Amino acid sequence: MPMSKTIIAPSILSANFADMGKEIKNLSEIGADWVHLDVMDGMFVPNLTFGFKMIKDIRPLSKLFFDAHLMIAQPKRYVKRFIESGADLVSFHYEAEDDIDGTLDIIKNAGCKCGLAINPDTDVNVIKPYLSKLDLILVMTVFPGFGGQKFIDGSLDRINKAKALRDEYAPQAVVEIDGGVNVANARSIIQAGADVLVAGNAVFGAADRAVAVKQLRG
Ligand code: DX5
Ligand code: ZN
Repeated sequence: MPMSKTIIAPSILSANFADMGKEIKNLSEIGADWVHLDVMDGMFVPNLTFGFKMIKDIRPLSKLFFDAHLMIAQPKRYVKRFIESGADLVSFHYEAEDDIDGTLDIIKNAGCKCGLAINPDTDVNVIKPYLSKLDLILVMTVFPGFGGQKFIDGSLDRINKAKALRDEYAPQAVVEIDGGVNVANARSIIQAGADVLVAGNAVFGAADRAVAVKQLRG
């Protein structure tokens, strides 16, 4: 997926769940590129959000790219159902799945884009064996589970490393950064090598969401 401009992917974890339909439609109005869907199971992360039905119900409301981030244990069991619900890309955690190759194959064989996510304390090099299959490398810059956390210091080096691995082994893939991204640190994150910025609080908590999206894109 070659990228020309930085992709902004607001995370609906920070949206008002009581008005989700309106929030999803608003993302197109404010100039977002993707919709970042944070699926949590209360097992892999200490929080619960939503599942297939939410994605199925909001799919008809938006033409934006649905970027599903599965923070669930043993995601191989469910990736197909997220694709059937309307995800355009499904990423899952390296730390959550024993059969990474098999899970990536299921996603790709279903005609969907695939991504592999790594936690802040996971060595970036673990993704090497899978790079040829990836459309997206998701570098977590907070420990997953909650929006509104602080960008972990030292993450810029990890972004550099992920970009270097992508440049050498996976030119088809994009580098996505997720957690604590805001208008103050976005430029340095992009300069470090990010193609896609996930932003929950920085967008949904902004006084003017369209301005926030523009400022994040730089
Ligand atoms: C955290 C999620 C992130 C989070 C981002 O587990 O994966 O996508 O919602 O929210 P902010 O941008 O507020 O850190
Ligand atoms: Zn996420």
